[in-house]
Amino acid sequence: MTSFKPGPDTRRLFRDALGTFGTGVTIVTTRGPDGPCGITANSFASVSLDPPLVLWSVDVGSDRARIFCDATHSAIHVLGAHQSDTARHFAKSGHRFEGLDWSEGETNVPLLHGALCRFDCETVAVHDGGDHKILVSKVLHTTLAPGEPLLFHGGRFGRIHHHD
Ligand SMILES: Cc1cc2nc3c(=O)[nH]c(=O)nc-3n(C[C@H](O)[C@H](O)[C@H](O)COP(=O)(O)O)c2cc1C
Repeated sequence: MTSFKPGPDTRRLFRDALGTFGTGVTIVTTRGPDGPCGITANSFASVSLDPPLVLWSVDVGSDRARIFCDATHSAIHVLGAHQSDTARHFAKSGHRFEGLDWSEGETNVPLLHGALCRFDCETVAVHDGGDHKILVSKVLHTTLAPGEPLLFHGGRFGRIHHHD
């Protein structure tokens, strides 16, 4: 058992504590001034059904933060269990789309093929959230496919194990 107050000396422990919360994995894409841009994000969450709103947060220390905060539109892709390589790819590089299966959407946003679900979004608010910006988006269109989700827990990718 470990008990601590989050601060500069317990950064690693705090990250580990946050990592106990298992999540799905998304890739958020947009069209930036220099072309298509993507980022792997597990901070995605649903916000509201009516109007249809979702959120995710971006590290202001990331080179990609400004691009996403300035963009009017984005696509949020919920990854399938087979897409851990794509998740690793967009954790490393935001601008390399060559060799990937994608097309351009109506708002010039890059749309990755093969995701479990895609939310085509318009950004409606950008809030301060400490060292992150919280982006709230209205979902304009949803595309849903059958399949198992990719999961992330304790810094590792995995897949779901249903109890029934
Ligand atoms: C599973 C996973 C989830 C992540 N979630 C987020 C996230 O929600 N927000 C974020 O800003 N970065 C997140 N990252 C980190 C980014 O994908 C990326 O690695 C980081 O922004 C470094 O990018 P930079 O080269 O632009 O600095 C995540 C990485 C992984 C592997």
